[in-house]
Amino acid sequence: MENLSVQTEYERFAAMCQCGLRNVLASIENIRQQMSLSDDRNPFSIVTSRIKTLDSAIEKCERKYGEASISRLRSLQDIAGVRIITDFEDDIFVIHDMLTRVPTFTVIEKNDYIANPKPNGYRSLHLIVTVNIFFEGRSRMVPVEIQIRDKAMDLWASLEHIIKYKHPNPSPEIVGQFKRIADSLAKFDKDAMRIRDEAASNDN
Ligand code: GTP
Ligand code: MG
Repeated sequence: MENLSVQTEYERFAAMCQCGLRNVLASIENIRQQMSLSDDRNPFSIVTSRIKTLDSAIEKCERKYGEASISRLRSLQDIAGVRIITDFEDDIFVIHDMLTRVPTFTVIEKNDYIANPKPNGYRSLHLIVTVNIFFEGRSRMVPVEIQIRDKAMDLWASLEHIIKYKHPNPSPEIVGQFKRIADSLAKFDKDAMRIRDEAASNDN
């Protein structure tokens, strides 16, 4: 065990997390199909997933802990990640409520950056779930991160990520401009829900 390289150990641990990821994706697909049968409002617009690469996991451990040992790599809870994109902000909480009731995994951590946006304006709902998998003849628990956000939040996060990647230390002026965009998108989200509800009430 001690002689195995970091890469070999990471690949094995990432394969375990991938088992958990497949389980979570299957549950999400089951919920999505059921909701499409019973309700004309489908809260799931886009579902994507990824497994963190070894390079990205090492970069994160070095940034957070100053080292990237096997035990640090295994402590990461977002090696498997799912991102769910919705049309409207309140769909995020419809999905959250569904996910908390799925019997095949357990929500162990919740960060609501919609109720409490990050200082830069980032909004999204983050969950860590643990999934029971069967791997190498044994039952094990693995973590999967689920990020749920709407299209406006996703647009903002994608652009902010691109700029931050190219310019890791943006000026206060740039940070301020992103914060202003985030604030106007938060207002856009409220307006979009209001217009949706007004249109529905006009139908009645
Ligand atoms: P980690 O140790 O990286 O998990 O940090 P954390 O637990 O403090 O942060 P959290 O888990 O809440 O968020 C991590 C992930 O959310 C990142 O990998 C991004 O995908 C996303 N994220 C969080 N904050 C921001 C942000 O300010 N901008 C963008 N674009 N994405 C963010
Ligand atoms: Mg985290």
